[in-house]
Amino acid sequence: MSQEDANLEARLEEQETFEPPESFVEQANVTDPGIYDEFEENWPDCWERAADLLSWEEEYDTVLDDDNAPFYEWFTNGTLNASYNCIDRHVEGDRADETAIEWEGELGETRSYTYSELLEEVEEFAATLRELGVEEDDVVTLYLPMIPELPIAMLACARIGAPHAVVFAGFSADALATRMNAGESEYLVTCDGYYRRGDALDHISKANEGLEGVEHEVSDVVVVDRLGDDLEHDLADNQHDYDDLVAEQEGASVDPVSRDAEDMLFLMYTSGTTGKPKGVKHTTGGYLAYSAWTSHAVLDVKPDDTYWCAADIGWITGHSYIVYGPLALGTTTMMYEGTPDYPEKDRMWELVEKNDVDIFYTAPTAIRAFMKWGEQYPAEHDLSSLRLLGTVGEPINPRAWKWYYKHIGGENCPIVDTWWQTETGGMMITTLPGISKMKPGSAGPPLPGIDARIVDAEGNEISAGEAGYVTVNNPWPGMLRTLYNNDERFISEYWAEYSDEEADEWVYFPEDGAKIDEDGFITVLGRVDDVINVSGHRLGTMEIESAVVGVEGIAEAAVVGGDHEVKGEAVYVYAIPEDGYETGDELEERVVQGVLDSIGPIAKPEEVIFTPELPKTRSGKIMRRLLENIASGDELGNTSTLRNPEVVDEIAEQVDLD
Ligand code: PRX
Repeated sequence: MSQEDANLEARLEEQETFEPPESFVEQANVTDPGIYDEFEENWPDCWERAADLLSWEEEYDTVLDDDNAPFYEWFTNGTLNASYNCIDRHVEGDRADETAIEWEGELGETRSYTYSELLEEVEEFAATLRELGVEEDDVVTLYLPMIPELPIAMLACARIGAPHAVVFAGFSADALATRMNAGESEYLVTCDGYYRRGDALDHISKANEGLEGVEHEVSDVVVVDRLGDDLEHDLADNQHDYDDLVAEQEGASVDPVSRDAEDMLFLMYTSGTTGKPKGVKHTTGGYLAYSAWTSHAVLDVKPDDTYWCAADIGWITGHSYIVYGPLALGTTTMMYEGTPDYPEKDRMWELVEKNDVDIFYTAPTAIRAFMKWGEQYPAEHDLSSLRLLGTVGEPINPRAWKWYYKHIGGENCPIVDTWWQTETGGMMITTLPGISKMKPGSAGPPLPGIDARIVDAEGNEISAGEAGYVTVNNPWPGMLRTLYNNDERFISEYWAEYSDEEADEWVYFPEDGAKIDEDGFITVLGRVDDVINVSGHRLGTMEIESAVVGVEGIAEAAVVGGDHEVKGEAVYVYAIPEDGYETGDELEERVVQGVLDSIGPIAKPEEVIFTPELPKTRSGKIMRRLLENIASGDELGNTSTLRNPEVVDEIAEQVDLD
């Protein structure tokens, strides 16, 4: 280690706070610390500031309507169109020839769309959807990887007022079917395949298998030809080639339909505590205003920037911070098709250098992988174009934070550690980079106007240093409005724990544990429900359990998360075989395959542990905490309350802790 490095290490160890560089502060979008008081004093009208970032057709008359809480409504009676806000108004302004989307393919190809080219593509596909019979409020499912047709299809849906439901391309056929069934979606846009580490992956077979599981009639399927001759495939009668359909609509002009602020913009399915995914409903006015506002205030996005969020659009991060937020602000948003280590482990840094990326936003899992690969990869590239870094999706450990700060940011970029959820639509707890100091590992204070608190089980605020639960005690524009077709579950999942219904006081519970310090900085500790976070992806343990018990030969199963150096958490399956079934490689493989088939590779078990019994309390409840401790290699603590303590040692012996 050089002397310089040693000095920095020493400084990092002893000084746990970092100030944003002067050069950043001077140019930041938000710099006045008074914004926190201003938003508090002027709440909820403070949110006009977010709405002002959009172009409204009809002005709203009320900022917040809480008459039917917790079914809050925002910017009521306002009308607007999301596609108009993300494209047309920039074309009508002075950005027609500026790049809207810069796409980097895995094999080195690139595609770039100016705002006027994007408008053309979106209009042609909007016309295509209409021609197929898609009407306002029909849910269109998009099962596409990171290719430009995905944001084009999303914006085309938004243009004609058809909510989209994007299903992550890595999800399995079953997962697609479950989501299409839940959304009663009659239209699907998918593709033949895509590239991963240089290989052509077949996607259409997975889509077709999923379609077999759809319980209602699917009118039409549009298939993008991403692989050309690399994958031959047949199209069924109701399946059409994307390019053929779009060619018929060449030069089409489709006026953006006028949508009420509260009309649904999209549905996004996410995991909950039961096996059934939840259809989170986001709206046109509140969601768009909130994703634009947070992109402006937290990510510091400016029209002249090249901005790169390295998430997948199949998750909420990609919806809010690859597509809607940055395009609403008229910037250049980058999309990358592939993986960070192909063809070499410096791929991300090569792309940052090549595109002069100003802002880079990724997940802690990726940072831990970069760290493991080594600092020589970023060191090969000029990363001086970077101005701001961000993280999202899971807690970041201080060591990874400091590595990111030093080796990617060159000690010259603030880092925003942004806590939020699919349900919140946008960021909720994080520093404002032009205002606050930063503390590695701690997300920061709640954003202005967000009343997030750390409370005990009764809902009372706790003192600094103690662990408690996150609650949000006031609504915000980006919040989910309900769970699709399930208002009851919306209340029971998010509002039941801490609200006082009689007093009409509603408190949102995100199911996260956290600590708060004297400065009001919040360190998020992780989920307190049966949801685990693998590589920043949220998975329901119940969903995985039901996949495991669906495997022939498995009688009972418990799935928990255990610590993992890179992924944050990994999936551990404890399974009881049925009588007469041999435990061994074959059964293990079938369990793994069962999970892959029903969810996808992101849920792939790290280990499958066969056991004759699961540790249970005297009342018969599985002691999950104990199984988590075994998986993480932690102290097991007191097992005397178990009905069957002897089983614990038996299980622990089998777990390969390396
Ligand atoms: O546990 C929190 C964790 O991710 C969960 C939300 O997952 P999802 O809806 O898939 O959205 C991920 C992208 C916003 C939260 O309940 N989480 C998210 N961001 C952070 C985080 N945990 C700690 N620190 C964060 N910055």
